[in-house]
Amino acid sequence: MDIQLEKISEKEAKTKPDQNSLGFGRHFTDHMLVMPYTEGKGWHDLTIQPYRNFSLDPAAMVLHYGQAIFEGMKAYRGKDGGIYLFRPADNIERMNISAARLCMPQLPVDEVLVALKELLRLDEDWIPTAKGATLYIRPTMIATEAALGVRPAKQYLFFVILSPVGAYYPEGFNPVKIYVTDKYVRAVPGGVGHIKTAGNYAASIMAAVEAQQAGFTQVLWLDAVERRYIEEVGTMNIFFVIGDEIVTPPLGGSILPGITRDSVIQVAKGWGLNVVERRITIDEVLAAQENGSLKEIFGTGTAAVISPVGSLHYKGQDCLINNGETGALSQRLFDEIQAIQYGAKEDPYGWVI
Ligand code: COI
Repeated sequence: MDIQLEKISEKEAKTKPDQNSLGFGRHFTDHMLVMPYTEGKGWHDLTIQPYRNFSLDPAAMVLHYGQAIFEGMKAYRGKDGGIYLFRPADNIERMNISAARLCMPQLPVDEVLVALKELLRLDEDWIPTAKGATLYIRPTMIATEAALGVRPAKQYLFFVILSPVGAYYPEGFNPVKIYVTDKYVRAVPGGVGHIKTAGNYAASIMAAVEAQQAGFTQVLWLDAVERRYIEEVGTMNIFFVIGDEIVTPPLGGSILPGITRDSVIQVAKGWGLNVVERRITIDEVLAAQENGSLKEIFGTGTAAVISPVGSLHYKGQDCLINNGETGALSQRLFDEIQAIQYGAKEDPYGWVI
């Protein structure tokens, strides 16, 4: 598929934000990628164009029934000045799994990656050089057909926008305070917890707001059936270091198959560490804290990479993890994965392109 290119004029170029106070997802670059889909015709008119508003019919099905999926990945400016992407094909392939679950069309992975690289080349001056700052890439697909029947839409729009970002949490790479909710659940067996669809995030906001009002950064989600098994933390996967085991809940239903989660598993196994994917209850974690075998807890995600957990609040009780400090493994994994992402270290996994 040819890529149509419509560049901004010189006077349309936006002023770039201060790299040291980027925040997360508040600024957007000069260009975006768009590609409509029409049933019978497939994907067409792959275009890089100036970043601008869409025009959507008020009956566009995404606005009513929520056929919306997205991805998150990052581009890095390496020490050698090169542009690096971390496992981008895995993101687009995961998007296709999300698309299949919501009866949305499959993306042509290779063509999307070629177009994404073209977009990055065009907006490469937007890739931050400040430490810890990156260019966040947000591929999204929405149903655009104007119709009110509940069924798969016949028209979609795929688009990619770019946002220079700093740390995801205001805490930066520092331990966060977590509220364990047994009131709300994130996902149910047979539902959509394993895909990156907008509705999962909409449904999570109230729990996060209540946690923040009570002085916590995020919530820890328990399973919907028994409210005992740990699933995720905020928008991230979660790991526990207990004794000589690194435990993370297994995939297979309601948990998002995180690419950082998978990278952490591979890196830790590569170091000879004992990583176990198994179900783990909140009671087991608290008992491990009591008997001194719980060493660390950390979340993993594209946005924050690794986010150490400093404390858990459950049923009115506070439980300090690793004295509220960043654990040695969290730090080591953060350093290693970032070094691979920035091209500062050899990448034995072939993750960086
Ligand atoms: C991530 O942790 O990468 C996320 O999914 C965060 C995103 C929803 C902003």
